[in-house]
Amino acid sequence: MKIGIYGGAFDPFHNGHLSMIRGAIASKKVDRVIVIPTGMPCFKPARKVTLSPYRYYMVKSALKDEPKCEVCDIEQVFGEPSYTVTTLQKLRQQKVVSEKDELFLMCGSDILFEFESWYKPDEILKQANLLCAVRPGMDEGAVRNEASHLEEHFKTKIRFFKIDGVKVASSVLRKDGNYENVPAVVSAFIKTNGLYCEDAPLMHVSDEMYKTLMAHSFTLFREMSGKRLLHSMNVCILATRYALRFGADPDKCALAALLHDCAKELPEQQQIDLASEIIHGYIPGKQILHSPAGAVYARHHYGVEDQEVLDAIQFHTVGREIMTITDKIVYLADKLEPARDYDDLSLIRELAEHDLNAALIECYCAIKESFARKGQVIHEDTQRSLAYLLANRSQ
Ligand SMILES: [Fe+2]
Ligand SMILES: [Fe+2]
Repeated sequence: MKIGIYGGAFDPFHNGHLSMIRGAIASKKVDRVIVIPTGMPCFKPARKVTLSPYRYYMVKSALKDEPKCEVCDIEQVFGEPSYTVTTLQKLRQQKVVSEKDELFLMCGSDILFEFESWYKPDEILKQANLLCAVRPGMDEGAVRNEASHLEEHFKTKIRFFKIDGVKVASSVLRKDGNYENVPAVVSAFIKTNGLYCEDAPLMHVSDEMYKTLMAHSFTLFREMSGKRLLHSMNVCILATRYALRFGADPDKCALAALLHDCAKELPEQQQIDLASEIIHGYIPGKQILHSPAGAVYARHHYGVEDQEVLDAIQFHTVGREIMTITDKIVYLADKLEPARDYDDLSLIRELAEHDLNAALIECYCAIKESFARKGQVIHEDTQRSLAYLLANRSQ
């Protein structure tokens, strides 16, 4: 089978990317296309690129009904820079493609002019041929000349295919915040998850913490469903924003928020065993169990030693009488992240713009009312936390 390999950051995925995929299939130069969102970038500072699970799930949603096309997570599971040559080798090693498959590395014509400076271009061409897109209006003579030079130099044959004239750049889309030129599902994805916000809170965590968050997001990708991982990353970004707003430590808030649900999809018995290490004499209910279990799991599995971070994970579900600022931020970010739409959160979100305690009180009261409607009472720790906040609120 002839397989097109189409890699990129897709930050965001847009109609130009879609025209590449459709053009390659329509040209019949390939039978199908494997799309590979970049995991960890090699040629850009990591912070310049959106955390990779966002981009992977964005591309997945954009292409879920696209025929003869699949999205591959091969670069999502390795916490190391993704060179094209190693990705191609891994595709064969992991039998994503077979030895008999012929691979065609899809690229725009601009890539031909920089290809020689890529990492191990000769090794790449041992694994795959180049399949270059021809756009209306481009200087075809210059491109063909460059192609001839590469063909001679590397003893390879470069194929071409035509695509529509969609001219759009991800960097321009991000800068303008205008998403007309992206598939509708992608603009919905961007909106739901609040991507490409101008304030970019993660730019303010330390270099060390950014590396840690990236490494954990690769681990979480392997261990967690897409929906929960996106939720966790949304909580991470919102918690960092709140930390910066209210003078808390952005590193601690970001880490606790990213890992707050890290134990939620573990088998129940494993959660009970983990929680039992810090809670003695009783087993918390199913909804709460993952919080203490998560604190222990974050320590064992993610190497978190900071007690303030572990506490914020432990108390993110029901709170505790005296909450630290990190506890409050992670608790609220969990309830208010942009994809949360289960209730009208506008008042609490508005309060969280300027008054953390007022937002927390309002959030507790909303939960209390919702429980009361079902004839239930809120957890005693939440009651204590609410009472403490009310008693100590500034007049
Ligand atoms: Fe949770
Ligand atoms: Fe959560």
